[in-house]
Amino acid sequence: MKVTIVGAGNVGATCADVISYRGIASEVVLLDIKEGFAEGKALDIMQCATNTGFNTKVSGVTNDYSKTAGSDVVVITSGIPRKPGMTREELIGINAGIVKTVAENVLKHSPNTIIVVVSNPMDTMTYLALKATGVPKNRIIGMGGALDSSRFRTYLSLALDKPANDISAMVIGGHGDTTMIPLTRLASYNGIPVTEFLSEEVLQKVAADTMVGGATLTGLLGTSAWYAPGASVAYLVDSILNDQKKMIACSVFVEGEYGQNDICIGVPCIIGKNGVEEILDIKLNDQEKALFAKSADAVRGMNDALKS
Ligand code: NAI
Repeated sequence: MKVTIVGAGNVGATCADVISYRGIASEVVLLDIKEGFAEGKALDIMQCATNTGFNTKVSGVTNDYSKTAGSDVVVITSGIPRKPGMTREELIGINAGIVKTVAENVLKHSPNTIIVVVSNPMDTMTYLALKATGVPKNRIIGMGGALDSSRFRTYLSLALDKPANDISAMVIGGHGDTTMIPLTRLASYNGIPVTEFLSEEVLQKVAADTMVGGATLTGLLGTSAWYAPGASVAYLVDSILNDQKKMIACSVFVEGEYGQNDICIGVPCIIGKNGVEEILDIKLNDQEKALFAKSADAVRGMNDALKS
């Protein structure tokens, strides 16, 4: 199974690293516009093979899309990340041009590939990739919910003082500081609702921390995060390549689901070999429905910026 990752920067290279050491794919191609950069990252990752024990073949290329031919999955992380104080939305102008060109180029060599969009503002970039290429909606997936949900589970684990892997929780809606919706009501610890353990006040703080989780790291690091984003992409790619049918919140094109149309937004999806196998219809309460509608309006407003 072959994966191409366009953009060998922080997120792209971390994703390649995780895919390799976990043996998720047999081949990973890193592609970047910066001369020699992807080649260097690939070589560095390959030199981990004997110490971490993997057999994945990792190679890097500078803008040569012919080397990406026959990819089962293409991940797009090319673009600029945010700096402290920036919103994801401020990246739209530059990243739109990059994502459109990259999506068109990869499809010339891998017409049947599944595209995972990571570049921000991710919901709008996913929508742009879909509209610009005409690829069927099941094959264009925006990665945001996997990361936001892992941040949510981390903050819940800290509040509960219990392992994050024993906690089940999901974030839906737009992938933005004010648009994401951590579903506190449905979060659970080994099947027991977390509302049994945590006060409303604590849960509100966990949700608030989750929503600014990316901005917090940008403030600390001086640029946006990469370990959890790279691992979240790898988790999604694993579910596709190995047909795991995991339920993952992903930004996908909706046609009536959750009362919305003509946008890509985070909803619970079953992810398998065909990409989006199914969008799950979970019963939101009135407050969650209202938050989702508001989030969808914000995402729609962002998509309007593509027209200007
Ligand atoms: P980075 O700056 O470390 O890497 C971006 C790479 O893209 C650079 O190496 C650059 O040379 C390359 N690039 C730029 N234009 C290109 C083109 N036309 N073709 C090929 N490569 C090109 O940035 P980082 O931290 O890896 O972030 C990448 C993107 O992912 C940003 O837009 C960031 O906001 C987004 N992101 C999204 C997340 C999500 O949850 N959806 C999480 C974290 C970051």
